[in-house]
Amino acid sequence: MTYVAPNSVQARDIASIVHPQTNLVQHLEQGPVVISRGEGIYVFDDSGQRFLDAAAGLWCASLGYASERLARVAYEQMRKLGYAHLYRSTTNEPGVDLAEKLLQIAPVPMSKVLFQCSGSEANDTAIKLVWYYHAAIGKPNKRKIIGRKMGYHGSTSASISASGKADMHADFGLPFPDFRHTEYPHYYRLHTDGETEEQFATRMADALEAMIVAEGPDTVGGFIAEPVMGAGGGLTPPRSYWGKMQAVLRKYDVLFIADEVICGFGRTGTMWGSETYDLKPDMISSAKALSAGMQPISALMINERVFQAMLDESRKLGNFAHGFTYAGHPVTTAVAMETLRIYDEMDMVGHVQRVGPYMQQVLAKFADHPLVGDVRGVGLLTGMEMMADKATRTPFDPSRGVGRMVDSHAREHGLIARFIGDRIAFSPPLIVTEAEIDDIAARLRRALDATWAEVRTN
Ligand SMILES: Cc1ncc(COP(=O)(O)O)c(C=O)c1O
Repeated sequence: MTYVAPNSVQARDIASIVHPQTNLVQHLEQGPVVISRGEGIYVFDDSGQRFLDAAAGLWCASLGYASERLARVAYEQMRKLGYAHLYRSTTNEPGVDLAEKLLQIAPVPMSKVLFQCSGSEANDTAIKLVWYYHAAIGKPNKRKIIGRKMGYHGSTSASISASGKADMHADFGLPFPDFRHTEYPHYYRLHTDGETEEQFATRMADALEAMIVAEGPDTVGGFIAEPVMGAGGGLTPPRSYWGKMQAVLRKYDVLFIADEVICGFGRTGTMWGSETYDLKPDMISSAKALSAGMQPISALMINERVFQAMLDESRKLGNFAHGFTYAGHPVTTAVAMETLRIYDEMDMVGHVQRVGPYMQQVLAKFADHPLVGDVRGVGLLTGMEMMADKATRTPFDPSRGVGRMVDSHAREHGLIARFIGDRIAFSPPLIVTEAEIDDIAARLRRALDATWAEVRTN
């Protein structure tokens, strides 16, 4: 039991907040880490300790932790029009500006934008639109949504149902009945001996096709996937994976939702993961770096085919009966628009194309470390996997908590990364420099060495 001073922020937190993705019993005993302020890609706790945040918060703080320029935009917008909604044909200019800009930079022709406040809500909306679309075109039974094992699309009831994370379904009575999960492209862990990436990708696409056929193609309406899997472990797919998967989706006329919540706005070295992997989705959800994480906003883009079906529904039903009070909130859209201007001015995509390969090269060197089995990534996103025996690809017994050990040593050395089981995902703020990447590597080396010493002693 950690000592928590009465009336401290920690004590008040314990008495008042339920934390997401937290062991609630441990939290009562240990209390929270209090983050007090941020500067560039660093955050400081209440004791003044500085951490390099190689996770960009939750993959979102693309411009780091403080921005005078975005603060001014929010301030000015609040003074002028601090709230507005988009219900019943009401609009405001910041929302229109942002929608136009998104349609202009979309990786494939898109027709319209729906705003929400989070990635979960964007994906929830996309799932509802799969159902709505098929109802509109006279195929109301084409309702099943296929996601992937280990895929993550959010915490609302439908978006977590589409996610393939069993730990997030347990005791919630989820997923909902119409959701299925196909194989996920974790080549390093799941390939059979001698299987090439190409053969593995074919096997993944065959598994998807077998699932669609087994379920009945007339019942499968949508497929949702991240171009690169984030919360599944920072997993980049084999090069030919997406071509093969999309051929199956086209064959059975399954709507494709690209979840760009992490990949959008430069993370993979192009504006969209869909560009990096040549995806042709019908809908694209985005959030996080859309506002540099500084305002809660998400945007779902839909193509003309989906929009035309929605028009048919309005002809039939009248109202498009869906929406959120804060969807298209002018402070969020103004800040997002300014964020996209900053990306343009900084040539953020060009910057990621310059520093991304450097990060991949620096982190790839860790493949020599006795704990590390695999390192691969794209742009400014890298996944690293720790293995008990690299030669035989044998993972650690999860009960040893090796990932947690590295996490705690990394924090001792002032480094924050994202730990998912025994995988580490790196997704620093997009503004990261080569010198800061060297700093990540130095801190990581110390954390891995300390863990290796601990693992060997036990
Ligand atoms: C790929 C992906 N989709 C959706 C979400 C959910 O976004 P939010 O937490 O904003 O609801 C996340 C969150 O991490 C994500 O990584």
